[in-house]
This record gives sequence, C-alpha cells and structure tokens, in this order.
Amino acid sequence: MRLLDGKLAVIAGVANKMSIAWGIAKAYHEQGATIALFCLESNLRRVTKLAKELNIDHVFPFDARNDQSIVEAFESLNTLFNGKLHILVHSIAYAQVEDIGNEFINVSKSGWNLALEVSAFSLVTFCKCARPMMNAAGEGSIIAMTFGGGEKVVPGYNIMGVAKAALNMSIQYLAYDLGPENIRVNGIASGPIKTMSSLMVKDFSNSLGLMEVQSPLLRNVTLEDVSGSALYLASNLSSGISGSIIKVECGMNSVLSPSVPHQRYK
Ligand SMILES: NC(=O)c1ccc[n+]([C@@H]2O[C@H](COP(=O)([O-])OP(=O)(O)OC[C@H]3O[C@@H](n4cnc5c(N)ncnc54)[C@H](O)[C@@H]3O)[C@@H](O)[C@H]2O)c1
Repeated sequence: MRLLDGKLAVIAGVANKMSIAWGIAKAYHEQGATIALFCLESNLRRVTKLAKELNIDHVFPFDARNDQSIVEAFESLNTLFNGKLHILVHSIAYAQVEDIGNEFINVSKSGWNLALEVSAFSLVTFCKCARPMMNAAGEGSIIAMTFGGGEKVVPGYNIMGVAKAALNMSIQYLAYDLGPENIRVNGIASGPIKTMSSLMVKDFSNSLGLMEVQSPLLRNVTLEDVSGSALYLASNLSSGISGSIIKVECGMNSVLSPSVPHQRYK
C-alpha cells in the first residue's frame, strides 16, 4: 500500500521540470495518487507534454489574475474527479521584476496588488472552489508554497515577502475555517531552489551560496527535500497537522542573523 493510493490530487504551478510543483507531482505519482494539473494558460502546451511523463492526461489552464478562470478550472476538475478531491497544492507566485529588484519603498500600488492577487489571494479562491469537493471526499489536505522572506527581511525579495506574509496568515485563517470539515491547510517554507521564478530574485545566487556555508546541513535544499515534506502533508501521516508552516531549508532558520552586508554596501 502506497501513501497516496486512492487519493485524488490537483497541483497548480508546474512551468517546467525545475518547478517545485513538478517535484511534488513526481512524488505524488510514485505514491499512487491520481493527479491533474492546473497551469498558466501560456504554459499549457509545454506542461501537457511534460505531464505525459507521469501519465497525467489532464492539465487545465487558469490565470490567477482572473477568478473566473480558476472557477472554470475547478469545474473541469469536478467533472474529471466526479465531485471529489483529497489534495490541493498551490505552488504559484508572481511579482513584477521592478518591484523585487529595487528599494521596497518604491513599490507601485498596481505592483503590490498584482503580487498579492496572484501569490496570496488565489489560495483563498482555490480553497473556496476545493471545499465542496473535499467535503464530498470526507477529508482534504491543502498545501501552499511559501518562503522565509514572508517572516523576515530577505534583501531583494521585497514585495514577494509581503505577499508571502499575506499567504502565511491566509493559510492559518483558512485552516481555522476549514478544520471543522476535516480539511487541513498547511504551508512549506522552502529554502532557495533554482527555478524560473527564483532566478528573477536579485542576488538569488548569493542565497544559494550562503546555504552551503551557513546552514546546519551545509547544503542547499533539493526538489526531493521539498516534495518529501509535501508528500507527508498530503498523506494521513500528518493527520493532526493544520495551520502550520514547515520549514524545509536545511535548518537555516535556527542560525542567528546570517552575516550579509546591507545592500547599500555592495
Ligand atoms: N524556488 C525557490 O527558491 C522558492 C523558495 C520558496 C518558495 N517558493 C515558492 O514556490 C512556488 C513555486 O515556485 P517555483 O520556484 O517552483 O517557480 P516556478 O516558476 O517553476 O513556478 C511558479 C509558477 O507560478 C505560475 N504563475 C505565475 N503567475 C501566474 C498566474 N497569473 N496564474 C497562474 N499561474 C501563475 C507560473 O506559471 C509557474 O508555474 C512559488 O509560490 C514560490 O514563491 C520558491
């Protein structure tokens, strides 16, 4: 018996093989889940082709800037899974390059709204759509990807840090709302991993370098590290865990103030 045998899962956020969502899809596939993917409309062809590698036949397009497109993706999922869903993974985020590369004080109102809409509010819409399907399944586990820059300043992360702070609190309030229905909501705060999104973050390679010399495990986080924790949160092994954020960053959070110079001194 595998950990996710009989479970129906939807994973949002595969862009390519480097995506955290792809690592999670592989782990869930190996453990027996039936999987559908949601992806950004413009990635549909590429992701549909990639999905075949895991025998995933259903990839539904959506755009987190458009609530109706999320509703329509869930309507398709509802038909595919006969009204039931056990696992939902939210692994999407977006901010304009100019809003993460410059001083935070100069963030535009439209850039702020866009980052929070795509990276945090979409989780609320996802949960609203998943709720009846998880109720029909009798249980649910919802997992969102977050980052330590939502708790403390990570130079260069800026508006994404604010969006992650909103996401982190949304995880907790959603867990409170949905807990009585046996639906759990948790987050994973991953350390830095090289992906299409993370490469947009200024000084990202510095963060990777610091992990190798400052983290207790003296290495960077891998997709397998993150997908292992996502597997645990999706499975019944974590049945008593909700409203939590698991830090998968090689112990970095336990080390006092990493010694990086202020960005003005570079
Ligand atoms: N890579 C890291 O270092 C790291 C660390 C901690 C947390 N995270 C988080 O992990 C999640 C996945 O990121 P990733 O690193 O795998 O990068 P990625 O680029 O592979 O994934 C980001 C996904 O967000 C999707 N997306 C962006 N705008 C969208 C929109 N308007 N509608 C629908 N989808 C949209 C992209 O298409 C992409 O699939 C994000 O929430 C990210 O903040 C990443």
